[in-house]
Amino acid sequence: MVAARNRIFDAGLYDPIVDAVAAACTSSGSILDAGGGPGRYLAAALSSAGDDAVGIGLDLSKFCARSAAKRHPRVLSVVADLWAGLPVLTGGVDTVLSVFAPRNVAESARALTEGGRWVIVTPEPGHLAEIVGPMHMLTVGDGKSGRLARELAADFAEISERRVRTTVRFDESALIDVAAMGPAAFHRTRDELAAAAAELAGRAAVTATLDVTITVARRR
Ligand SMILES: C[S@@+](CC[C@H](N)C(=O)[O-])C[C@H]1O[C@@H](n2cnc3c(N)ncnc32)[C@H](O)[C@@H]1O
Repeated sequence: MVAARNRIFDAGLYDPIVDAVAAACTSSGSILDAGGGPGRYLAAALSSAGDDAVGIGLDLSKFCARSAAKRHPRVLSVVADLWAGLPVLTGGVDTVLSVFAPRNVAESARALTEGGRWVIVTPEPGHLAEIVGPMHMLTVGDGKSGRLARELAADFAEISERRVRTTVRFDESALIDVAAMGPAAFHRTRDELAAAAAELAGRAAVTATLDVTITVARRR
């Protein structure tokens, strides 16, 4: 899953989302990427935030943590369960990132400095809609933004949203990878995903939509 996710990033297929996350992380200081996976978003955020910014990549998976540690020289990688508490001091970080990852609202609020920002990426219902069914992926994004605003209301203010909606071309191997980097990998073999990609793409590439909302909220 980590290798597939890294190939998708390295092919630039998620660059519109990566770039928008980086643009939302311009303040220097410390950035904690909770459920950061292989660390692509954290690396981009650090590059955008400036030379004195430092990053903590946190993930349940040691394979993700290893990848994140290699993605940027100013990343410290931690294997931890974000539901068991974020392993940082209260008010210890300037930015928390949550990208397609579980969100621990109380802990993110505790970890952030006053005025610190939480940058959250959530998928919209149209995200990868053209390929979700044929590639046996899970359906995502059902009115999550309204729920998110309610989750944030107690501890966060100045909540802003930016929608990133664009199309990308996936060739046959990218179709396999975009499915294999998510939960489809748990219930389909790579051969099954390859057969689905061949049926969907044949020899041509498939156009699919990236559709996410980036929410930025300031810690009260
Ligand atoms: C869909 S992936 C997104 C990864 C990364 N943010 C990205 O977009 O490339 C969700 C990530 O959350 C991690 N995760 C899930 N539950 C977690 C938990 N309780 N604590 C820490 N990480 C968790 C998974 O291991 C996985 O890497």
